[in-house]
Amino acid sequence: MKKRVLTGYRPTGKLHLGHLHGNLHTMLELQEEFECFFFIADWHALTTDYADTKNLKDFTKEMVIDWLAIGLDPKKSVIYRQSDVPEIAELALYLSMLTPIAWLERNPTYKEQLKELKKKEIATHGFIGYPVLQAADILSVHADFVPVGEDQLPHLELTREIARRFNHFYGDYLKEPSAKLSRAKRVPGMDGRKMSKSYSNAIYLDDDDATIEKKVMKMITDEKKIRIDDPGRPEICNVFELHRIYSPDKVEEIEKRCRSGELGCVEDKKELAKKIIASLATFRKRKEEITSDPSLYDDVLTDGAVKARKVITETLQTVRKKMNID
Ligand code: TRP
Repeated sequence: MKKRVLTGYRPTGKLHLGHLHGNLHTMLELQEEFECFFFIADWHALTTDYADTKNLKDFTKEMVIDWLAIGLDPKKSVIYRQSDVPEIAELALYLSMLTPIAWLERNPTYKEQLKELKKKEIATHGFIGYPVLQAADILSVHADFVPVGEDQLPHLELTREIARRFNHFYGDYLKEPSAKLSRAKRVPGMDGRKMSKSYSNAIYLDDDDATIEKKVMKMITDEKKIRIDDPGRPEICNVFELHRIYSPDKVEEIEKRCRSGELGCVEDKKELAKKIIASLATFRKRKEEITSDPSLYDDVLTDGAVKARKVITETLQTVRKKMNID
């Protein structure tokens, strides 16, 4: 039997190159080898954005359509929306009963976000309990692996601790998942910071050719390289960092020509823009096909909900039995 993998994304709308080289490529590979559960974590979005939910549905739809267009395949993987499976919330409730508050308070993400998101009131029950909900996501499908970046490791450890505590009280049942560290590449945005929607520095997978070219031309390179023939420093250049991804066979040549002052930034950027544009052609074609079919999105989520619920309902039946609430 195939091992199970689960991962979730908060619905933040259209996908960009940061997503693609972060987790998406890993997800595409995983779906060939494992039984994958990929879901949109719309309840998780509420933990920080409960006060403004107007974009939630659109963002979910945009994200799912981009997933499909990049090649996540509902025939191979279970693709669903968290809120379509109320049993996850029920499991989160049970798990919340046995999770000590101290475990949640020592979560590094919690402490960090409290400091960072000063403008939002997130000292809420839902926000501090976020890792319990995440544990329910994972434990409800008995995931063997969760592909995560390093920042998510404490959450996964917490999931394991919660599973152990459940098993200690009610008998062995919930499976402790392992982390599958993704080899995500850092993708710089136009301003050199990590590509992110919230920094407005992202190149989206469905940007048209002209937009991609414009964005690439705006990228900050080496501020000391002012004239074309000034020698550049690829090691600090964002365009070069992207060439490592998009021009793997040309990296040495580009580096040499940049350092010697032979290669100007404009020519360099034009080359990169061409590569990015070419790499997205299939995605764009598929996205057009998907969006031209008015019922496809709904069908994918309806079907995904049925498949996810089948597994998760079974889990809950056993959980209830073990806890004597059946
Ligand atoms: N915490 C993840 C994020 O904020 C989303 C998420 C929710 C998740 N539940 C999960 C990821 C379960 C992996 C497994 O992006």
